[in-house]
Amino acid sequence: MTPTSVLFVCLGNICRSPMAEGIFGHMVREAGLSQSIRIDSAGTGDWHIGEPPDPRAAETAARHGIDIRAQRARLVTPGDFTRFDHILAMDRSNLAALRRMALAGGARPRLFLDYLDGAEDGDVPDPYRVGGFESVFRLIEAGAADLLRALREHAADAQ
Ligand code: 4NP
Repeated sequence: MTPTSVLFVCLGNICRSPMAEGIFGHMVREAGLSQSIRIDSAGTGDWHIGEPPDPRAAETAARHGIDIRAQRARLVTPGDFTRFDHILAMDRSNLAALRRMALAGGARPRLFLDYLDGAEDGDVPDPYRVGGFESVFRLIEAGAADLLRALREHAADAQ
């Protein structure tokens, strides 16, 4: 598969995008594509820079056999728009923030859930204040599966 790269972006980079990085990374490894798909996550807000994922996000991922505890929150940077092929916002407010930062000629940010069949314009809800980490995990898992399928189809079409 042609190498590609994906950056998941939420607000704090301690709940949704770390779960997305962990879940998608798990699927990519299971598919034997670790050498072809580079994955990272970042946030548009700076409150939690350097911190590990929220314990509730880490516990939820761990229940599904995914360890995200080594991740550390960081801010999105202008350089991300040239270092990543796909910049995927977990909700529309983060998409708007990314669009304000986007560079001409760099990656065009998109909504992560655009990849989920039947979920156009959907937001992954912020579990930070209102619980629901398990349902957010499952929503991200469904989106990540469709994202991987789309990237593989795109790679096959490009051959
Ligand atoms: P996340 O959740 O964007 O999924 O990481 C949040 C984490 C922290 C804050 C907001 C959302 N915060 O306001 O600090």
